[in-house]
Amino acid sequence: MKKLMIALFCGAVSLSATAGGNIANGEALVKKRTCASCHGADFNKPTNEIYPRLAGQHADYLKHALIAYKRGDGPYGRNNSSMASNVADLSNQDMADIAAYLHSLPSDLVLKR
Ligand code: HEC
Repeated sequence: MKKLMIALFCGAVSLSATAGGNIANGEALVKKRTCASCHGADFNKPTNEIYPRLAGQHADYLKHALIAYKRGDGPYGRNNSSMASNVADLSNQDMADIAAYLHSLPSDLVLKR
């Protein structure tokens, strides 16, 4: 029973983490672009240590990061020339979808029990 409760709880947590994001559309969007050339084919092993690992990171965090690159320099923005050009034409929904997809990928960052 205790295991069932834990499984239900984890299911609820992972559902809420991807709420608002369409994983299939997120996958299609990143595959159309060059994201993997820096962040790695599976988004778990970047091609260079200067690129962050994205697989398994929290969807909410990833979405906020993408929006910040789109905002650019200034309050609540991130100023990075590599990323700015990659997010310039993405809508908020596109970024939510990409975040949901990246969150769904297996990762060494997350401790699986
Ligand atoms: C030319 C290399 C390059 C490409 C292509 C690229 N990125 Fe990035 N990405 C970076 C770098 C460098 C950073 C870290 C920038 C910084 O210091 O803020 C980053 C950061 C990020 C972050 C923030 C991660 C964190 O932990 O805060 C996300 C999310 C992200 N990239 C997603 C994407 C997506 C989605 C695409 C494709 C649409 C993409 N990137 C394409 C180089 C790239």
